[in-house]
Amino acid sequence: MKKIRLEFRNVTKRFPAQRKGGEPTIAVERLNFALADGEVVSIIGPSGCGKSTLLNMGSGLDPASLGEVFVDGEKVVKPNEHVAFMLQKDLLLPWRSIRENVEFGLEIRGVPSREREAISLRLLKRCRLVDFVDHYPHQLSGGMRQRAALARTLAVDPAVLLLDEPFSALDAQTKMILQQDLGQMLGETGKTALFVTHDLVEAIALSDRVLVMSQRPGRIVKELIIDIPDRPNPMERRKSEKIGPYVAELMSLLHIDEAIV
Ligand SMILES: Nc1ncnc2c1ncn2[C@@H]1O[C@H](COP(=O)(O)OP(=O)(O)O)[C@@H](O)[C@H]1O
Ligand SMILES: [Mg+2]
Repeated sequence: MKKIRLEFRNVTKRFPAQRKGGEPTIAVERLNFALADGEVVSIIGPSGCGKSTLLNMGSGLDPASLGEVFVDGEKVVKPNEHVAFMLQKDLLLPWRSIRENVEFGLEIRGVPSREREAISLRLLKRCRLVDFVDHYPHQLSGGMRQRAALARTLAVDPAVLLLDEPFSALDAQTKMILQQDLGQMLGETGKTALFVTHDLVEAIALSDRVLVMSQRPGRIVKELIIDIPDRPNPMERRKSEKIGPYVAELMSLLHIDEAIV
């Protein structure tokens, strides 16, 4: 049995009413699931079902109302260095070069400058940004900025990566390239990742498992185990004849086909 890296145990999140006399919002309810070391799991669900809320609780940015989240067996109570977050917006600091952005988290941790440089250059090379290390974020395309954000996320060597629709603002082809970069890097590093996306094929191509959530209050209604070989190679996996049936199953679980009359 592989070690459990991330676990949600009976997690409910309830937001207080926004105005006096209003109803509280139960964003997610009684979530129970765990990710083993090195597993990549995607979450799919309708807008507003609590996917971002779930990742926020995983990162320690927002506490659960009931239940607990554990990383490596330790209860998550605040943001911590074992968990890194990547969002749709790259959040690169505009006044720092790409290299300085990748080194930012290491700087905060007091990593000496030569070590920082070695780490950032290795990762930027890996993200095919070696010719842009001294550029500033505004000088890069959206896809390049997200690759820099991925390098920054990996620089601190987190145990768990949380990714909240990181590629949803990119065009379809750039997105496939970024998926390939992410898939390969997750394979090479053996990192554990929880990935939120609306893109069904993206979820299937990148993951070991896909969890499907219901409408709010979000609950996990289905787990699909993706039985396609070569997980670190999402581009090849996309071409698999097994993709179609998985997409069909997700469409049906999300009632997408029923919306068309
Ligand atoms: N800070 C907050 N205060 C009050 N309600 C919130 C807050 N954050 C999210 N919500 C509500 O919780 C629900 C789930 O939101 P969210 O996790 O962002 O959904 P998703 O990412 O699945 O689209 C929504 O109804 C949203 O309005
Ligand atoms: Mg969201």
